[in-house]
Amino acid sequence: MTKIIHRTLRATPAYAVSGRGVTITDREGKTYIDASGGAAVSCLGHGHPDILAAMHAQIDRIAYAHTSFFTTDVAEELAEDLIAHAPPGMGHVYMVSGGSEAVEASLKMARQYFVEIGQPQREHFIGRKQSYHGNTLGALAVGGNAWRRQQFAPLLIHVTHVSPCYEYRGREPNETPEQYGERLASELEQAIQQVGGDRVIAFIAETVVGATLGAVPAVPGYFKRVREVCDRHGILLIVDEVMCGMGRTGTLHAVEQEGIAPDLMTIAKGLGGGYQPVGAVLASTKIVDAIKRGSGMFQHGHTYIGHPVGAAAALAVQKVIRREGLLDKVRQDGRYFSDRLRETLGGHANVGDIRGRGLFWGVELVEDRASRRAFDPALRLHAKIKAEAMQRGLMTYPMGGTIDGKHGDHVMLAPPFIATRAELDEIVRRLAAAIDSGTASLKRAA
Ligand SMILES: Cc1ncc(COP(=O)(O)O)c(C=O)c1O
Repeated sequence: MTKIIHRTLRATPAYAVSGRGVTITDREGKTYIDASGGAAVSCLGHGHPDILAAMHAQIDRIAYAHTSFFTTDVAEELAEDLIAHAPPGMGHVYMVSGGSEAVEASLKMARQYFVEIGQPQREHFIGRKQSYHGNTLGALAVGGNAWRRQQFAPLLIHVTHVSPCYEYRGREPNETPEQYGERLASELEQAIQQVGGDRVIAFIAETVVGATLGAVPAVPGYFKRVREVCDRHGILLIVDEVMCGMGRTGTLHAVEQEGIAPDLMTIAKGLGGGYQPVGAVLASTKIVDAIKRGSGMFQHGHTYIGHPVGAAAALAVQKVIRREGLLDKVRQDGRYFSDRLRETLGGHANVGDIRGRGLFWGVELVEDRASRRAFDPALRLHAKIKAEAMQRGLMTYPMGGTIDGKHGDHVMLAPPFIATRAELDEIVRRLAAAIDSGTASLKRAA
């Protein structure tokens, strides 16, 4: 019997014993194509020799040095590298060990900024419904994922949640995408006015919504309007790119495609590609300068911030992405992948929407395409599809509650940037088979 508290206490998952390229092999010798990069993590696949070599070399030099005593060359170089390629205005990096830690740090940094500049009355965050920012209490509070929040609600800080930008279900038939974006920005402005414009610290949003909605980009112009609203009220904009960032959508940062720059940005998953638990907050010069001029220290910290081996892995991942022109490949192969998905699944009776960017795609499943009616959540279609896909040696990232935390199912895909076109074809083939048998089993049961 396992002593690990696994994700479910009623079953032990398969034992992963090796990983090479886009595949993971289990103890029984079965091989799986990692079509979701785990949870949009493994951007360079598994066992990449450059990353392993960089980590080995760093361990041989020094594996750990506490940041209250030392900095390291590798962490300094990573920070230089991240800022050199960051959106305009970003000047500094706070290195952590994952996405939730990055979000927590960004929330505290945003609050401290206002304390430092003499606006301590700002104490409220605004987030969006149907979003996920992590499972620690602050991150869970700003997130808008109903089922993840429910039982912990009494422990969470009070946050206002506005509508997500979810075109498939949110845009009215008589609205253009731009008008829809305008409407949502007005909703945000109203929420700010309701709280009091001088009481709000920040608005936080995923640039492309990941796990909760299944790779949903915003409509054109939405983030520009959001930026204007935030600026009008002196509110910070935090973009959470833990999942959608670091090349996943075809540009290093997804927000580049929105034509705006945030004040704070969180990154993690693809930053270290799964080789090390590493994340970061990119902070604007404005914020860091204010703290420097004020108290002189960001009042935060963890034992493993700036970990040298994490930094070595992340730096090596960035170098491989650049050397191998992988952002360009993600853009080109992303178009190829979306064409194959649409060709194969676009006409499926139970596929309502296929959306995404780069190598980050979501397939939303419906019982009825015309009315966009979702399947009964009790049927747990997403879980069936995950099991069918695993049986076929395919790792995908399906989730339920797409629409409102309860109804709706989608499958998310985030293949490694290094996947060949033949591997992308195989992913689509196995996914289609898994969706076919998952949906067919529901019809047989009905
Ligand atoms: C957008 C986003 N933010 C934050 C997190 C939390 O990251 P972690 O699981 O590394 O704590 C996730 C994880 O899926 C995420 O998708």
